[in-house]
Amino acid sequence: MKINVTVNGTAYERDVEPRLLLAYFLRDQLGLTGTHVGCDSSSCGCCVVLLDGERAVKSCSMFAVMADGHEVATIEGLKVGGKLHAIQQAFTDCHGLQCGFCTPGMMLTAVALLKWNPHPSEDEIREGLAGNLCRCTGYQNIVKAVQQAAEQLASDSAAAALPEGLATASATA
Ligand code: FES
Ligand code: FES
Repeated sequence: MKINVTVNGTAYERDVEPRLLLAYFLRDQLGLTGTHVGCDSSSCGCCVVLLDGERAVKSCSMFAVMADGHEVATIEGLKVGGKLHAIQQAFTDCHGLQCGFCTPGMMLTAVALLKWNPHPSEDEIREGLAGNLCRCTGYQNIVKAVQQAAEQLASDSAAAALPEGLATASATA
């Protein structure tokens, strides 16, 4: 079947088998291997991508044809203009990863969580990440990273709401 899908801002038209999972479309056809496959059965969250900029979906549980007409963001698309996304910076600062296998899915789930709930409590962060398993970090630093990213995104959007001169002044104060 022919599908048209935008991935990380690039439009693709591809012929795919109807049974092809989105995770394997991204990895094998587009070479976006940052989307990991840990369980293939919707349990671990390693394969989470962002659909239409706001919904975290497990790409091992979705056929590529279901992404027809949609926008998908993978971990490769989070960095903008050479600058790490706030969630990537926060995972780095807070030591939120060790082996990194769960990290792309954790980050994209967190981005969706913060989109829907920009000021989550610790319990809400833990609940929001409940579908993502990490074998390494014990979760504490992941939660801290999401809290740091929430603060950063809130201050970025407060600065963006200011007139340009004031935003620059507050950023350099
Ligand atoms: S690989 Fe998709 S949830 Fe584990
Ligand atoms: S950092 Fe290793 S599985 Fe999460």
